[in-house]
Amino acid sequence: MRDPGNIELVGRSRELAELESILREAGENAPVVVVVEGVPGIGKTTLVEHFLAAHPDLPAFSAVCTPWASGHPFGVAQQLLGAAVTSEDPVDVARELVAAVDPPAGDVPFVFVLDDAQWADLASLQALTSAVHLLDRPAMIVLVTNSEPPEGVPADVLDLLDRHRRHRIHVRPLDASDTRRLANTLAHLDLPAPVAHQLVQHTAGNPRHLTQLLQEVDPSAWSQWQPVLPVPRTFAAKVQSQLSACSAPARALVESAAVLAGDPRFADAAALAGIEHPVEALDEIHRAGLLTVGEHRGVTVLTFPSPLTRAAVYRSLGPIRLRDLHDHAAQIVEDEGRRLDHRAAAAPFADPALADELDTYSAQRATVGAWSAVADALIKSSRLTVDRGEREQRLIRAVDALVGASNLPQALAFAPEIESFPESPLRDAVLGYLAILRGRPAEADLLLTQSWTACDPGTDPATAALICQRRVLDSLVRWHGPDLVEWASRAVALVDPGDPSAVESAAIMGLGLAATGQVVEARAAYDTLSAKIALGAQSQRFDMARGWLDLALDDPESARQELESAVPTAFRMGSTRISLWAQAWLARTQFALGDWSGAIATVDRAVHQLEDAALDLVRPLVHWTGAQTHALRGNWPAAHEHLRLAAASSHDYPMMFIPSSLARAQCAEVQADYAAVIRALEPLTRLQPREGIDEPGFWQWPDVYANALVMAGRVDDADTFLTPHEERAAERGHRSAMARLGYARGRVAGARGDIDAARDVFETALTHLDTLPLPYDRARVNFAYGQTLRRAGKRREADAVMQAAREGYFALGATSYVQRCDRELKAGGLNLKRSRFTLEELTPQERAVTELVAGGASNKEAAGELFLSVKTVQYHLTRVYAKLGIRSRSELAAQFRDQE
Ligand SMILES: Nc1ncnc2c1ncn2[C@@H]1O[C@H](COP(=O)(O)OP(=O)(O)OP(=O)(O)O)[C@@H](O)[C@H]1O
Ligand SMILES: [Mg+2]
Repeated sequence: MRDPGNIELVGRSRELAELESILREAGENAPVVVVVEGVPGIGKTTLVEHFLAAHPDLPAFSAVCTPWASGHPFGVAQQLLGAAVTSEDPVDVARELVAAVDPPAGDVPFVFVLDDAQWADLASLQALTSAVHLLDRPAMIVLVTNSEPPEGVPADVLDLLDRHRRHRIHVRPLDASDTRRLANTLAHLDLPAPVAHQLVQHTAGNPRHLTQLLQEVDPSAWSQWQPVLPVPRTFAAKVQSQLSACSAPARALVESAAVLAGDPRFADAAALAGIEHPVEALDEIHRAGLLTVGEHRGVTVLTFPSPLTRAAVYRSLGPIRLRDLHDHAAQIVEDEGRRLDHRAAAAPFADPALADELDTYSAQRATVGAWSAVADALIKSSRLTVDRGEREQRLIRAVDALVGASNLPQALAFAPEIESFPESPLRDAVLGYLAILRGRPAEADLLLTQSWTACDPGTDPATAALICQRRVLDSLVRWHGPDLVEWASRAVALVDPGDPSAVESAAIMGLGLAATGQVVEARAAYDTLSAKIALGAQSQRFDMARGWLDLALDDPESARQELESAVPTAFRMGSTRISLWAQAWLARTQFALGDWSGAIATVDRAVHQLEDAALDLVRPLVHWTGAQTHALRGNWPAAHEHLRLAAASSHDYPMMFIPSSLARAQCAEVQADYAAVIRALEPLTRLQPREGIDEPGFWQWPDVYANALVMAGRVDDADTFLTPHEERAAERGHRSAMARLGYARGRVAGARGDIDAARDVFETALTHLDTLPLPYDRARVNFAYGQTLRRAGKRREADAVMQAAREGYFALGATSYVQRCDRELKAGGLNLKRSRFTLEELTPQERAVTELVAGGASNKEAAGELFLSVKTVQYHLTRVYAKLGIRSRSELAAQFRDQE
C-alpha cells in the first residue's frame, strides 16, 4: 500500500479506534478478519493506509486486486508472496504463504491487506484464509471492499466476503465540520458553514468528490451565489460517457429531469422531453444507473442517484438547450415559484417585466415570512433588472431577506458588493443589521444613524420602518429600554398594523418596557398582542420575547412553555436566529427550575446550531449557562471550554458582555475565588445607562457581586452597593430578586457579627422562595445561612441548615457545592467521620483547614472556602503542625494522604 504521505485524515477517529481494538483482539487470539467497506471514494484505502502508517512496527503484506486479474487463480497470492505459486491447491499455497512470511521477533500480529477485495480471485482468498489458521502467530486480514459491489464480481467471492463480516467497519460520509477541516487543510480555505452543508449534500459527504472539488474550483467561487454547484472533472466525464451511451430519447429524459430539479414527476419530465415512448426511455436510463424511479403520494417521480449526477447532467447542457428546456419547463410546472425560476433561468439578458414579477412574488412570500424564497426571488430579480438603482435596491433587499432566513454567511458574502453601492438609507440599514448580528456596536450605530438621517419617513415609510426595526434590535442588545420603546413605537406608527415590521417591533416592545421598570405595562402589551398575533414566524418572536419576560418576572414555568414553542423553526418557517435566542433563555429557565440536564442538552443543541449560524451576538448568552452548570457539577474541562466561547469585552454589546461577565463570575464563585468574581463583575457597575442592567430579575448579578465583596472583607462596600438594589426589588415586589439580595444581605449582617439580623434576613429570603420553583436559589440561601450560623458558633443550628443546602445541591447534581457542604458539615463538628489515626486529634475546624491545604489550596483559598479570615487559617495550621509534629505543607499533604 501507498504511504499516506502528509494527507491529513479528517473525521475518522471512530473508524481508527475500531481498527485499533480489532488489532488488539488479533494480538490476543489469532486470527481475525475485518471487512472495511463503503462506497467508492468514501476513503477506505486512505483509512487503512493511515492505520498502517500509525503502526510501522507491524509486518504488513498488501495486495491490490483488480477486475482484470480477478479471473486468474492465485493472482493475489502471488502478489503477497512476491513470487509465482508452485501448486494449484489453496492449502498448498497457504503453506507457501506461511513459509514465506518471515516472522520477526516478538508477538506482533501479521497484517494482510487486500485492497478492492471484491476483485480478489477466489483461490487466493481461500489460500489466505487457510494460511492465517496455519500460522502459529496472531494475524489480521483486512479486506477492503466496495459496499455496492460492481457487476461482474463472482458470487463465490461475495459469499466468502460475506462470511467475514463479523468484524465490519463501515466507512461513513464526511459531515459539514469534517468538510470545513478538509477545505482548510487542502486549500487553506475557511469554508462558510452553510456552504459546507451544501457541499456535503451535493457530494453525499464523499471525500473523493470533496477533495477534487476543493482542488479544482477557484476558492472564491464558494462564497458566491451559484444555482448549481460545480462537479469534479472526472465525475463529469463519467456521467458524460454514460449519457453518450444512451439513445436520444433516453438522454432527453435525463436532461429534462435535471432541468426540472428536485424529484420531478415522471409525467413532467416525459412531457418536457417530448418523447414518444417514455417508459422505454426510462427503462434504459434506469439500467444505466442515471436515474431511479420512485413514488411520492401516488405519483411516479424520478430521482438522481446523487445531487452530483444531476448537477453533472445539468452542467453538460449548452446555453441554447438550457434556455429552451427552461422555457418549456415554465409552461409545464404548476407551482408559481418554480415557474418563475424556470423563466429566470431561461432569460439570458435583463428582463424588466420578469424582474418585476419576481419582485411581486417575493413580496407575497414575505407576508408569510418565507425569507429563503424571498431572497432567492430577489437575487434573480436583481440580476434581470436594467435600471441600476433598482437593481441595487433589489439585491440589498435580497440580503436583508437572507439575514431573515438566518443565512448570515451567505448574506455576508454579498456584503462587499453592497458596500460598493452608493450610500442610501436602505443600504445602510441592511449593512447596519449585519453589523448588529456580528456583534459590532460602533459600526452598527454609525450605519443606522446615517441611514435614519438620510431617510424621509414621509416619502418612504417602508424603509423608515425597517430602520426603526433594526434600531429596536440594536436597543435590545444594548439593553437600552427607553430607546427600544421609542424605536418600536415609531415602527408601529409608520406602517400598517399588520405589516411585519410593526408586528415584529411590537413583539419586542414589552421587553423594553420591562427593562425600564414598566412591568405592568409590559405584561399588558403582550396580552393585547397575543390576541392579534398570526401563527408562524411572527408568533415565534412573540413567544421568545414573552418567555424571556416571564423568566425575568418570576414565572419560569410559563417561560419554559413559551420558550419551548419558540425553539422549532422548521414547521412554521421560523428563524434560526430567534430560535437561538429562545434556546439561550430556555437553558436559563431550565437551570432556574433545577432541570440542569435539560439545560445542558439545550445548550449543546444551541451550540451546534450556533456553529453554522455565524451569529456572534448570541454566543455568550448560550455558553453562559453551559459554563455555570458544568462548573457547579464539577465538570471543569467543559466549563472552561464554555467560558472560552462565552468571552466578550466591554466594547461588545451589553447583551454579549453581561452574560460573558456573569459566566466568569459564577465559575469563580464555585471555586471560592472571590477576587476573580469581583474582577469579572466590577465593569458591570460602570455600564451606562443603569436602568436595564439594574432592573430586578433580568441579570442576576448584584447578589453575586455583593457576596464576593463581603467574602473579600469589603463589608461596607457590599452594604452600600446592596441598598439601591434592595429598594428597587422591594418597589417591584420582585420576590426572587429580594431573596437573592437577602442572600448577600445576610452575609453582610453575619460579617458584622449581628447574627439575629442575619437570621431574620435569611429566613425572609427563604420565605420569598417558598412558593417559587427555584431550587438552586434556595440551596444558595441555605448555604450562606449555614456558613453564617457556623461562624457565629451556632453549630447545631448551622448543621441543620447546611444539611438542607446539601440536599438541595445534591438533587441538582451540584457536586462542587455538595463537597463544600460536606466540608462545612465536618467543620461544624456534628457529622465528623473520625479518622483512626492521629488526625483525629484535630478539631473539626483544623481538620477542614488541613483537608483543603493538603489538597493544594493556599491559605487564602482555604479562607475563602471556609468563610474564615486568612489569619484564622494560619492560626489553625500552626496548631495542626504542632499536633502532628510536622513543619511544612508538603509533609502535611503526605501525612494526610497516608491517613485518609
Ligand atoms: N478521511 C479523509 N480525509 C481526507 N481525505 C480523504 C479521506 N478519505 C479519503 N480522502 C481522499 O479521498 C480520496 C478517495 O479516497 P480512497 O481512495 O481512500 O477511497 P476508496 O474508498 O478507497 O475508493 P475506491 O472504492 O474507489 O477504492 C483520496 O484521494 C483521499 O485523499
Ligand atoms: Mg480504494
